[in-house]
Amino acid sequence: MGRLEGKYALITGGTSGIGFETAREFLAEGAAVAITGRSRERLEEAARRLDGRVLPVLSDAGDVPGQAALAARLRQEWPRLDVVMSNAADVTHLPIEQWTEEAFDRLVATNLKGPFFLIKALLPLLSRQASVILVGSVSAFIGHENAAVYGAAKAGLLSLSRGLTYELKDRGVRVNGLSPGPTLTDTFASLGPERQAALYDELRRTVPLHRIGTATELAKAAVYLASDESAYTVGTILRVDGGIGELAY
Ligand SMILES: NC(=O)c1ccc[n+]([C@@H]2O[C@H](COP(=O)([O-])OP(=O)(O)OC[C@H]3O[C@@H](n4cnc5c(N)ncnc54)[C@H](OP(=O)(O)O)[C@@H]3O)[C@@H](O)[C@H]2O)c1
Repeated sequence: MGRLEGKYALITGGTSGIGFETAREFLAEGAAVAITGRSRERLEEAARRLDGRVLPVLSDAGDVPGQAALAARLRQEWPRLDVVMSNAADVTHLPIEQWTEEAFDRLVATNLKGPFFLIKALLPLLSRQASVILVGSVSAFIGHENAAVYGAAKAGLLSLSRGLTYELKDRGVRVNGLSPGPTLTDTFASLGPERQAALYDELRRTVPLHRIGTATELAKAAVYLASDESAYTVGTILRVDGGIGELAY
C-alpha cells in the first residue's frame, strides 16, 4: 500500500521542476493529485507525462481572488483535501534600482499573499489529518545577489508554517515549510546556458555538499511531510539544501 493511499493532494506549480516531480511521487504513493500552472498547454503536457489520477487546473498563484475559484473547483471534484503543497513561485531576482512597485507586488502576491488566501479558501475542504507544505527557499535565511525581495517573501511564507500551525492545529491541520537549496530544475533557464553553467559552478563551490540537489530529493521530502509518518512534525521547516542554509562552507 502506498504511503499516500486514498489521499487527495493539491500542488501549485506542478508542470515542471520540484512540483512536477512531487506530483509523480505522490501519484506513485497512491494519491490523487491536482496540479496548477498558468498555461493550459503546459498543464496538459504535464498531465500526459504523469501516470495516475491527475487533475490539471489552470490557476495563477498570484491571482489572489482566483484562489477561491481554485478551492471551488476542488470542492466540485473531490470530497476533501488531505495535502496542499504551495510550490508555485515568482523567482524574479533584481538589484534594488530595477524593482518597480508593480513587480514587487506581483512577487509578493504569488509567493506570500496568494498562498495565504489559498489556504483560507481551502479550509472547509481540509480533512482532519491534513498536511500543508509551504515551499520556501534557502534565500529566506541567507543573503544572495539580487534576492532581497524573493528572500523576504519566502521568509514570510515559511513564517506562516508557525503562525498557521498555531491557528489550525485544533482542526487537525499541520503546516510545515520545505526549504530547497539550489536544485536542478528549469528555474534558472532564463539566464541562458552560459550564465546558468557559471551559476551552477559557483553553487557547487558554496554548497557544503558540493553538488546541486535534484527535484526528486525535494519530492521525497514532500512525501514524508504529506504522509501520516510526519504526524508529530508541525510548525517547522525541513531544509533540503545540501547544508547551505546552516553551515559555513
Ligand atoms: N530550483 C531551485 O534551485 C530552488 C531553490 C530554492 C527554492 N526553490 C523553490 O522551489 C519551488 C519550485 O521551483 P522549481 O525550481 O521547481 O521551479 P520551476 O521548475 O521553474 O517550476 C515552477 C512551477 O511553478 C509554476 N508557476 C510559476 N509561477 C506560477 C504562478 N504564478 N501560478 C501558478 N503556477 C506558477 C510553473 O508552471 P507554469 O510556468 O506552467 O505556470 C512551474 O510548474 C519554488 O517555490 C521555488 O521558489 C527552488
